Amino acid sequence: MSERKSQSEKLQEKFNELHKKNEEALLGGGARRTEQQHAKGKLTARERLHLLLDPGSFEELGKFVMHRSRDFGLDKEHYLGDGVVTGYGTINGRLVYVFSQDFTVFGGSLSETHAEKIVKIIDLAMKNGAPVIGLNDSGGARIQEGVVSLGGYADIFYRNVMASGVVPQISAVMGPCAGGAVYSPAITDFIFMVENTSFMFVTGPNVVKTVTHENVTAEELGGALTHSTRSGVTHFASTNEAECIREIRHLMSYLPQSCEDEAPRLPYEPGNEQRPSLNEVVPANPNQPYDMRDIIQQVVDEGTFLEAHKNFAENIVVGFARLAGRSIGIVGNQPAALAGVLDIDASVKGARFVRFCDSFNIPLLVLEDVPGFLPGTDQEWNAIITNGAKLLYAFSEATVPRVTVITRKAYGGAYDVMNSKHIGADLNYAWPTAEIAVMGAKGAAEIIFRKEISEATNPEEKLNEKVDEYTRKFAHPYRAAHRGYIDEVIYPDQTREKLIRAFAMLENKVATLPKKKHGNIPL
Ligand code: HXC
Repeated sequence: MSERKSQSEKLQEKFNELHKKNEEALLGGGARRTEQQHAKGKLTARERLHLLLDPGSFEELGKFVMHRSRDFGLDKEHYLGDGVVTGYGTINGRLVYVFSQDFTVFGGSLSETHAEKIVKIIDLAMKNGAPVIGLNDSGGARIQEGVVSLGGYADIFYRNVMASGVVPQISAVMGPCAGGAVYSPAITDFIFMVENTSFMFVTGPNVVKTVTHENVTAEELGGALTHSTRSGVTHFASTNEAECIREIRHLMSYLPQSCEDEAPRLPYEPGNEQRPSLNEVVPANPNQPYDMRDIIQQVVDEGTFLEAHKNFAENIVVGFARLAGRSIGIVGNQPAALAGVLDIDASVKGARFVRFCDSFNIPLLVLEDVPGFLPGTDQEWNAIITNGAKLLYAFSEATVPRVTVITRKAYGGAYDVMNSKHIGADLNYAWPTAEIAVMGAKGAAEIIFRKEISEATNPEEKLNEKVDEYTRKFAHPYRAAHRGYIDEVIYPDQTREKLIRAFAMLENKVATLPKKKHGNIPL
């Protein structure tokens, strides 16, 4: 008996010793390394989770996991948790699964066991129907472990793909994320980055210099600004980590837990829904720009518009908002940038957003003012055909409630693409300023009256006359309304009220797609 007692005492002592030894690792790799992390303007893995989750809600899983490899000195150095903190907690009371890579442990590099912990989290999230948020800060595959760590990455990629469309997946890149490692965030729904402290690239500046002889810094090649403006890889760029984490919490408030769920609705007291200032937004001159955000802000519940991909493909605006307390996704052409024309980047940006909303039962509002697709060799040679088709495909396939308001131009193929009724939109409204036609009046007159104009004694006068004639015939919404393509011509100040009623009417919409394995979106 006494021997057994002493054995259990010994065991307890051993546990205490192990805990003590690893206390530093559990706190983020030790005080010195934590300081190094702070000196770079970065928080530790646990500090980030502390900000992300509701106070006291975090439950850690896999705290005692340690790496298995014994090569290259790994037998001498062990840290509990193995460079990633995983578990679950809540954001505004709603369950989320999280992993947070710990750069202070082997540079946050991904070992076999580190990967297993992330896989476990994603599997749990899928089984239990809740989002996954990954905070990435890693030197990539744990070099000492070789193929085992590559396999670990692939196990995560596979889970990311399986979870796509099942639960929202959010990635924040808060340090390095290089090589094949970038493909996990890339598959997830939204990527957040922090200026000056995070970067993503497939090959780093040194390799770039060797192969293409370009001199480029890590920040220029794959920093937050680069990816939020040039490549569009990241959807949100923040100036510091605290702001980034606040934005993640904000985004989560618009999202449902899974594809089986509806986004949370806030209580809403109906009031005066007229917005007279909307009558003033569209300029009298049809070629004068205006900011579509001015319309969005007036239409949605005050202060609720959260724009995604803000600085990329600015000719289209996408984001989440609330309408009478309900979460909606908004896609708007932006006349203030490139006259709101659709180009490759805008089409891809819009398509991805539409598919996200449709995956997660978020109704779609389209605000349309589009002069058509952008002409030019650059666009044609880089496949505006294939890329423009993505947006058409995404809208056509979407089964969530879909409403369009045409504020001004709806020209050519872009009329069809931007959530027209022909491709399954539930309702299309137009403002009296709407111009729905195959093309602008001048271009149209020059083509169809070319002979008449060239033979006229005063061709310029003839052209103006024909432009006027075409404008009278087509540059208004009533032809489309006579056909029923437009359900109602509404005054701008009525828009908010009409939309609140429309989305309430569509609340129980059921629409299914033909039976198939999956479609073949033109990728
Ligand atoms: C093991 C790593 C590591 C890695 C960093 N460390 N990356 N250990 N495997 N991949 C360790 C360092 O040895 C160091 O340990 C500590 O982490 C901090 O790293 P530093 O270099 O001191 O930090 P910093 O100067 O901030 O530079 C960070 C870094 C750099 C830019 C990430 O460490 C780096 O270039 N690492 C290698 C990146 C890489 O090539 N990864 C493989 C990519 S390929 P000590 O003990 O000295 O403090 C890949 C394939 C994935 O990931 C494939 C999926 C399909």
